[in-house]
Amino acid sequence: MCGIVGYVGPKRVTDVLLAGLARLEYRGYDSAGIAVVHEGSIETVRRVGKLSHLIGAVAEDPVEGSIGIGHTRWATHGRPSEENAHPHADCTGRIAVVHNGIIENYTELREELQAAGHTFRSETDTETVSHLVESLYAGDLAEAVRLATRRLHGSYALAVVHADDTGTIIAARRDSPLIIGEGAGENIVASDIPAVLEHTREILVLEDGQVATVTADSISVVDAEGLPVTCERMHVEWDLEAAEKGGYEDFMLKEIHEQPKAVRETLRGRMGEDGTVQLSELAMTTEEVAGIRRVIVIACGTSYHAGLVAKTLVEQWARVPVEVDVSSEFRYRDPIVGGDTLVVAITQSGETADTLASVREARDRGAKVLAITNVVGSRVTREADGVIYTHAGPEIGVAATKTFTAQIAALYVLALKLAQAKGTLSPAQVQHVWSGLMALPGIIERILGDQGALQECADQYKDGCLSSLFLGRGIGVPVAMEGALKLKEISYIHAEAYPAGEMKHGPIALITPHVPVVAVATKGRTYDKVVSNLQEVRARGAETIVVATEGDTEIVKHAEHVLYVPETDEDLVPIPAAVPLQLLAYYIAKAKGCNVDQPRNLAKSVTVE
Ligand code: AGP
Repeated sequence: MCGIVGYVGPKRVTDVLLAGLARLEYRGYDSAGIAVVHEGSIETVRRVGKLSHLIGAVAEDPVEGSIGIGHTRWATHGRPSEENAHPHADCTGRIAVVHNGIIENYTELREELQAAGHTFRSETDTETVSHLVESLYAGDLAEAVRLATRRLHGSYALAVVHADDTGTIIAARRDSPLIIGEGAGENIVASDIPAVLEHTREILVLEDGQVATVTADSISVVDAEGLPVTCERMHVEWDLEAAEKGGYEDFMLKEIHEQPKAVRETLRGRMGEDGTVQLSELAMTTEEVAGIRRVIVIACGTSYHAGLVAKTLVEQWARVPVEVDVSSEFRYRDPIVGGDTLVVAITQSGETADTLASVREARDRGAKVLAITNVVGSRVTREADGVIYTHAGPEIGVAATKTFTAQIAALYVLALKLAQAKGTLSPAQVQHVWSGLMALPGIIERILGDQGALQECADQYKDGCLSSLFLGRGIGVPVAMEGALKLKEISYIHAEAYPAGEMKHGPIALITPHVPVVAVATKGRTYDKVVSNLQEVRARGAETIVVATEGDTEIVKHAEHVLYVPETDEDLVPIPAAVPLQLLAYYIAKAKGCNVDQPRNLAKSVTVE
């Protein structure tokens, strides 16, 4: 996610801005910049890459001033480049804006502003805000920003300055965090607490729709209608490390809790008012989509498990055969790929060597390649024909969590789009699925709100497990596979996932009281079969931990521990069911004293074969 810092006060503003941006580096970024108001003009310095490049540029050519704004950019629209880096100016260069979020209607606003004579210099959605504020500015910057935000669809955290006003920063937010650190004779606007801690622990939290006018000695806030409001203030006790983790003990736990937002932001704007699925990135006409005869998914690790979910969805909804292959196999198997094949490359980092090689292999054989990734400007975005971005924000923990559920959210959109183009789902069916998807962030919140049973499990299974089996049926199988991978990679307990129906074909020989069995047994077509499998393993001494549907009282007869999830349609189970399994692995690993953010032998992105 992008990082915002704004400062007004007696200190040298570039020192405060650069130090504040450094405190936000953990959020991930690909470029950075500052804008300083001094003697009636705005001086902007922007650099691609690490913050050190910007720091060096400012050291070479110091910028004087006591008010300014700064930004670290996690690209969502427009590749990482100096012209796309924030701050963004209006036509006159007398307004500067930094932004965190996604402006969904930026294309139409850009066209409207260009038609009115505004000249754009970047590919970003943010620059639209600069020109919109310019078009509405009549001497009152706060009012111009307030009126501009009423035209914006989507999420924003903004900090805005004007060359005419050397004492004021305007801050505004909707669905994207923004706080104001209240100091003595100084105030600091920021995306997150780490950026303000060395100046103050007194924090004012802006609410959605509010606009703040910030000077060195005052903070005044109005609501979306321009009426004065009083904001909640809080005193922060956190140290810096705790603040970077948002108060969570580990980045992994923080990112598990960011999943409602990751899913919501990935689904944002994907359903048109006319009921059509919005997926322009597919860059195919309806006829071309209808002409797709095969889909091949290539991916590794957790992304491969997301691909297995996609297989069920696309085959069921769009009636198109789907093969899912690990990239390290696909690239060497002389794959059968043709012009009627859509290859979907799933890679959160966009840098996985085997997946990149498979993309090249598929394209060389004439397939159209669609990438699903979390990192704008990553290698895969430059090699695929089209890109769907997940909007999970940077994932710091090596174990994939929020990027997994965000990938599945993106795959739901793709499957719906294919089904709509092929006419295999009616408009009513598409809307029914969409309503279910819209409910998922709230369902994840509910699961996250009750973790007691998980911590109980962790204490019981942290020692003495020789191995563990993860079982599921249908769309529950990839969830079981992901749960096994999570446990393996962060707690180092061996875990193996199987389609539950396979138990009789060998794995049941492994069952002893020291091999707990985790099963996905949510309501669905094969629920009774999974219950039978649970009875089989328990009859042989296994203890069972079962993910089940809220309200299912029957399941308690077959489980030592039940991890309930709210009821959803069977096709929508993967996202809710994945969350308790992520947490189970997390709590067991923590109980074992493992480093969950940097597990041994693992890297966040496998850029080598
Ligand atoms: C998952 O927790 C692991 N970090 C790993 O399996 C990962 O999913 C795999 O390396 C693929 O990474 P990618 O999505 O960036 O291509």
